[in-house]
Amino acid sequence: MLLGESYHPGGPALTRRLAERVDLRPGMRVLDLASGTGDTALLLAAEYGADVTGIDRSAALAKHATDRAVDACVANRVRFAVGDAEFLPFASNSFDIVICECAFCTFPDKAAATSEMVRVLRSGGRVGISDMTVDTAVPPLELSGLVGWVSCIAGARTMTGYCDLLAAAALQLEGREEHPEALLELLDRVEPRLVAAAILTPPEFPALDTAQVKKWMAVARRALASGSVGYCLLSAHKPGHPDKQPADFGLEVAMIRPAVSKYRSPPAKSSKVE
Ligand SMILES: C[S@@+](CC[C@H](N)C(=O)[O-])C[C@H]1O[C@@H](n2cnc3c(N)ncnc32)[C@H](O)[C@@H]1O
Repeated sequence: MLLGESYHPGGPALTRRLAERVDLRPGMRVLDLASGTGDTALLLAAEYGADVTGIDRSAALAKHATDRAVDACVANRVRFAVGDAEFLPFASNSFDIVICECAFCTFPDKAAATSEMVRVLRSGGRVGISDMTVDTAVPPLELSGLVGWVSCIAGARTMTGYCDLLAAAALQLEGREEHPEALLELLDRVEPRLVAAAILTPPEFPALDTAQVKKWMAVARRALASGSVGYCLLSAHKPGHPDKQPADFGLEVAMIRPAVSKYRSPPAKSSKVE
């Protein structure tokens, strides 16, 4: 795996920064949206004492993250489900914090995903997002050939674009930070692995050309230096008083347990409970 266990730029340091920005406290109920290998969820449970539910559309990643939670002895405070960010299988007002690291840019319908974040968040709860940015609404053409960045860059927004999406869902923006160093760190981490993969690729597999890999990396570094791409951290809160919640109807969610090998599909949009 080219990125190792950590899928997001900035690694644990940026996750901790995000936790500070949303004022994460022990016992808070956190939704880790698009939880991947579980890095963020495990850190928030182990270091902050949070009660974390991760959700990812990949059943394999949810299972892997569950195994890691068991290994890290935090399975009592962390669980993972399979589901789509745009149709969350959770009751309204069920979380104090929603975190989404390096995944929002890939959601095809960002407005739907944002509205789902707001629905599952309690009044007064916070959202923390870290993600790729582009400097214009149209991503730089020369970046379109970059393997691994394609889906992120194609779906990334400007910082203002993300803020507009949050505001449109009635979230109140609290903080916006630029973290280009997080992307630089990611490139530094990935480049040697890509070059090694190119050198070690067995002849029977399609060739990863070392020169091409170095060219991609140079393009990515230029884009970062020029500000065409970047990385941001956003925090916002859902207005309202925590004690005045609308009625809540529970919704059963299939969590991945270590012994479970079959996964239920997330509920269809029409079965969502409001
Ligand atoms: C770059 S990884 C980030 C994973 C994790 N948040 C982290 O920072 O390590 C993006 C993740 O988003 C998940 N994902 C993409 N679209 C999704 C969606 N619509 N609903 C749920 N998960 C999604 C992918 O399966 C993948 O695990």
